[in-house]
Amino acid sequence: MDDEKRQQELIATAARVLTPNYKQAPIVLARGQGSTVWDVAGKKYLDLTAGIAACPLGHAHPRLTLAIAEQASKLIHVSNLFFNAPQIELAARLTELARGMGPTRAFFCNSGAEANEAAIKLAKRFQTSVRGHSDRVEILSFEGSFHGRSIATVALTGQEKYRSGFGPLVEWARIVPFPTDENDRRALDPISEKTCAVIIEPIQAEGGIRKPPTGFLQALRARCNETGTVLIFDEVQTGIGRTGHWFGFDRAGVAPDVISLAKGLAGGVPIGAILAREEFAQALTAGSHASTFGGNPLASAAALENLRTIEEEKLLEQVVARGSYLEKKLSALVAKHARAKGVRGVGLLRGLALDEDASPIVARARERGVLLSVAGGTVVRFAPPFIVSEAELDQGVAALDAALQ
Ligand SMILES: Cc1ncc(COP(=O)(O)O)c(C=O)c1O
Repeated sequence: MDDEKRQQELIATAARVLTPNYKQAPIVLARGQGSTVWDVAGKKYLDLTAGIAACPLGHAHPRLTLAIAEQASKLIHVSNLFFNAPQIELAARLTELARGMGPTRAFFCNSGAEANEAAIKLAKRFQTSVRGHSDRVEILSFEGSFHGRSIATVALTGQEKYRSGFGPLVEWARIVPFPTDENDRRALDPISEKTCAVIIEPIQAEGGIRKPPTGFLQALRARCNETGTVLIFDEVQTGIGRTGHWFGFDRAGVAPDVISLAKGLAGGVPIGAILAREEFAQALTAGSHASTFGGNPLASAAALENLRTIEEEKLLEQVVARGSYLEKKLSALVAKHARAKGVRGVGLLRGLALDEDASPIVARARERGVLLSVAGGTVVRFAPPFIVSEAELDQGVAALDAALQ
């Protein structure tokens, strides 16, 4: 069978056997190298999505590939009935990297939604069991936010399209307005001595790559301190270097009580984690939370090598440099195309905001061999691997330019 025919047959089979919850592009990816992927039919694409910000080292990075193969040949999984060395070493490394939060402890799971679930459960246990405030149940999140697809994280996701059809959602979730400017403090009003926690992305990613106005995160921190409210930063997309800092909180200069991580942590191997400040971490007493696969040797070894490679290859510096290069290139598109309204984001989490649905533009770029994604409906998102070159960014922007014609 020729390869294109095989690809079409696979897509036809997918239409019968997969649940219809995704709107996949009509290509079946088969392999990758660096920032490039190839489909089953052999067509080559420049991948500026990096598995939705999950592959900082790109595809088939030799160090990551070797670390995974070596660990797989020794021990893949044991459960948390026992310790395993990669998990302990990973927790040690992450808590060291997050020293801006003060002393922290790590809990591991398998995805971003699960990491946020763990953060929510920790906050609830902290208020009820540690502090004895059984009435502090409400958790606040922001309009436009995205925190995952479990029932609790959907309830805290401030976008109706993700929530509809799943009600009644949990009664303790409350969505507050995303601040519109530096003086807008409406979101702080509902935070009181009755609030359990607030969860916020340092930069809203899925919601359209939106930064809170200057000073807002500081004001939020101050209000949480005044009221004894747990402050959770959802760093699933901003964490592990995507902003040019190890964590979005470093960039913002505000230390939360808990952060959630996933996506880029293990270079594409499924993993999730929370880091919680010592006092808060104590709320997760023995038996209060668990995950069969969480922190298993394979995922932990992958994460360790991913972190080492980012550090030793100085990829955070590269994120900053390539990110500002990309920003300049995208700004030129704003000057050129009336429907391009602005450039958003930091580091290698960047978006070109349009005044229309971004999906057809992304589809046209794909036809020109460049993979991009949509954020917040109208924003074309660039979340390339950190190893992306300037020439590759040029190619991506040129494809977008052509798609906008
Ligand atoms: C900020 C944020 N939180 C949580 C999630 C959910 O992560 P996962 O899909 O791994 O459950 C995402 C995914 O896009 C995200 O961007």
